[in-house]
Formats: sequence, C-alpha cells, structure tokens
Amino acid sequence: MIALSDTSPEQFRKELHELADWIADFRQRLGSLPVAPNPAVAGPGAILEALPAEPPEQGEPFEKILGDVDRAIVPGMVHWSHPMFLGYFGWTITAPAILGEIITAPLNVNAMTWRTCPAATELETLVIDWIQNWMNLPRQFGGVIYDTASVGLMHALAVAREEAAPSVRKRGLVGAGAPVFRIYASEQAHSSAEKAAIALGLGEENVRRVPTDAHFCLDPSALREVIARDLRDHFQPLAVIATVGTTSTASVDPVPEIATICREGGMWLHIDGAYGAGFAILSENNWLTDGWSEADSIVVNPHKSLFVPLDFSVLFVRDLERLRRVFTLVPEYLRGDTVEAQKNYMDYGIQLGRRFRALKAWVIFRSFGREGMAAWLHEYIRLANLFANWIKDDDRFELAAPVRLGVVCFRWVGSAHRAVPTNEKLDRLNSEIVEKINASGRAYLTQTKLRGQTVMRVGLGNVLTTEDHLREAWEMIREAAEAL
Ligand SMILES: Cc1ncc(COP(=O)(O)O)c(C=O)c1O
Repeated sequence: MIALSDTSPEQFRKELHELADWIADFRQRLGSLPVAPNPAVAGPGAILEALPAEPPEQGEPFEKILGDVDRAIVPGMVHWSHPMFLGYFGWTITAPAILGEIITAPLNVNAMTWRTCPAATELETLVIDWIQNWMNLPRQFGGVIYDTASVGLMHALAVAREEAAPSVRKRGLVGAGAPVFRIYASEQAHSSAEKAAIALGLGEENVRRVPTDAHFCLDPSALREVIARDLRDHFQPLAVIATVGTTSTASVDPVPEIATICREGGMWLHIDGAYGAGFAILSENNWLTDGWSEADSIVVNPHKSLFVPLDFSVLFVRDLERLRRVFTLVPEYLRGDTVEAQKNYMDYGIQLGRRFRALKAWVIFRSFGREGMAAWLHEYIRLANLFANWIKDDDRFELAAPVRLGVVCFRWVGSAHRAVPTNEKLDRLNSEIVEKINASGRAYLTQTKLRGQTVMRVGLGNVLTTEDHLREAWEMIREAAEAL
C-alpha cells in the first residue's frame, strides 16, 4: 500500500531553502552561462535524449529533479534574461519579479469570479487602475488581464464584430447574415491580426496590410485608399489596428489621424501598444498616447516593457460593459459563485480558470515605483542611442530604421575597399552575422526584414545589460562582419 503524502513540512522548508539558494546562485551565474545552446552540439531532440523517456512510476526526490534541471534543462535554454541577450525587445527578470512569482505559487487560486477569490479580483482591478493612470487613459475605459496581446486583440475584435453584426454571438456569422468584414493594419503590424481573424471566422485574407511611410509608420492616406477600394468592392470595413511600437522597428503609427478615419467610417479602433505603451510612463513620452481617448480598445503588455514576467497583458475597452456583453455566460453550476454586483472577470473573456496574475505585478510595481521603472526605461533608451551612434560612426554599417525606444535595426553594408555586394548577398551576410553570434553562445541578436532587406536587430530591455555588455556585443558584430 502506497502512503498518501505530500512532502513533510520539515522537508518542504529544507527544500525551499535549497531552492532559494539555487535561485540566488542562478541569478549570479547567469551572465557566465552560454546565452544559447550551440545548435551544432545540441540540435533538435538533444534535450529529450538527455531525459528519461518513461514517465516515473515512483516519486523521486526534489534534489534529483533539481539536479536534472541543472544537468539537462539549463544548458538547453536560450537564456532570455542573460545580460547579453539582445533579441526581440530585450527581456528582463528582476528580483522583485521572482519574489512576486514565488508568493503567487502557494496561493494557487482561481480568479474567475469575485466570490472565488475577492483579493485576486480586487487586486486585478487595482493594478489595472494603476496602469490606466500611468497611461493617462480616461475613466470611461476599463481593463482586464489576459495572458498575451494576441488574446487581447482577439477579444477586442470579437466585440467589434458583434457590434457591427448584432447577434453573431448567438447565431454565428452566417446565421446573423454578416457581411465580409475587413480589418486594416500596417504592413509592420504584428501577425496577431491575422491570427485573430482566423480564430473569429473573419478570414486571414480580410486583414488588409496598409503601406507605411519612410519611418515605418502607417500612412493614413494609403489607409483611406484601401478602405475606399474595399467599399467599392462591397466589403465592410470593421476595424483598424494602430500600433504604438511595432515589432520590427518600434515605429509609432499616427493614432490621431487614424482615429479620425475610424470615426468617419464607423470603424473600431484598436491600439496595439504591446511594447510601446510601457514607455508612456515617462512624462516626455506622453505623446505616445496621443489620440488614445478615441480608441475602442488598447492592449498594453507589461510583460514586454513594464518589468512583469510573462505572461501579463491588459486589454482596455472603452466601456468595459461592451466586452462583458459579448462574453458573459454563467452556467448553472457557477451561479452560486457569482455576485452580480461585483466584478467577475470570467465574464470578460473566453477563459474560465484564471491565474492570479495581478499579485506579481503588484509586488513589482510597489518595489520599483513608477520612478524606478522610469529610470530603467531611460537607461534602455540611452543604451539604444549609444549603440546607434557606434553604428553611425562605422561606415561599414548603417541604421536601417529610426531608433525608437529600446530598438535598433541596422545593416552591414560592406567595406569601402571591397566590391559592393549585391543586395541578395548582403541579406545573406547580415543573416550569417546573427547566426554566427547566436551559435557562439556569447550574445544573442535577432534579424528582421525591412523593405525586403535583411537587417540585424538589437533590443535593449534587460536590467542586467550594461554599457560594457553592449560594447562587447558591438565588438563581436564587427569581428563577425570582418571575418565574412
Ligand atoms: C507590437 C506587438 N503586438 C503584439 C505582439 C504579440 O504579443 P503577445 O506575445 O503578448 O501575444 C507582439 C509580440 O512581439 C508585438 O511586438
């Protein structure tokens, strides 16, 4: 007979202390680990091979499991929080963030309704309120926490769809006799637009990509033209997605002009501030939120630029009741769990079970304060501009886009004393520089395409990345380019 038992309280306390040491040690040694595994040594399947394939029949001691984390998991990771990780928008974990995650674990509540956990519900409301204040969002907006911006956008477009074709919720698109809707976003906007259209039955092809100007910002006159053409062809314009901080270059679309077009055409305006919105906590960046009061929905990802670890995204909707109307559905078995006068966050989305995400954000926001976070964002911007200056001073490289927030896009264009390579060759070489550096395990960058050309990309967004780290990465890039 197998004894029913959890770890004993004494043993648990001991293991927790060990884990505390492990976490503190890991954070200290992170900078000395390879940023990423070398794909030539640890290719696809290598991690699986290093782990027992059979599920355990008997329980194993924590010590052994933690040993396997060190032996097989840690070396197989891309360490996003490594000081030399410069991919995407940069990425960070901070000490308060780790503490916030740890406090959340033993509570393990389900924040579906107010009654199932009043503290989780009310803290969610409070933290959303703080973010709303920092973004200077008018009070008629209300928010809800989801995992990601992609999910936020999908919910926002579901509301847009319901308001444009009432009763889709009940009868479906065909039953409600819905027209073919069109959604507009710049050619630089995130692919979550198409994903949302797929999920909502609106059709991937009905997301129309609009050209951008020389700074990679959506061109309002091009938007007007695309909409006019669609109207002539009997499509129904539904929504425009304006991005504040695009994925490749962090460009910012002209929201006030786009808002005017939306108002004139009766379209839903969604602002994708997944990355850029966080920078609006800096007073000199208030302009980032210009025109936001005209939006119908806004996504902000504190897990990208406000120090909250993945996952944590807020969807704001002008009059949150519009979102509730589309998603509220209380089955009999949950009726006793709801208190109508209170906020039941399960009513504001597809998820029933909801993690207590607000707690980690509350710990972080209180630990840093707005000032503390602003100081880090200033440092990211300073480092991004410093890096851009190094590029400008080296005629073998050029900036591929204006430097925005913490993002720098650049391209190796060859040496003056060598024959100028073709564009195709330059694309390949820029890509090779990134691959070579990433395979070295000493730094990590990403690449993207701008106007059809491959460019390298550095994102500053890690509290562990210092000017020295950045200088080291720059030297590596120059050496890799020279060795081509
Ligand atoms: C501008 C922008 N919007 C949306 C997303 C999607 O974010 P998430 O992973 O939270 O869905 C990203 C991801 O990088 C992004 O850059």
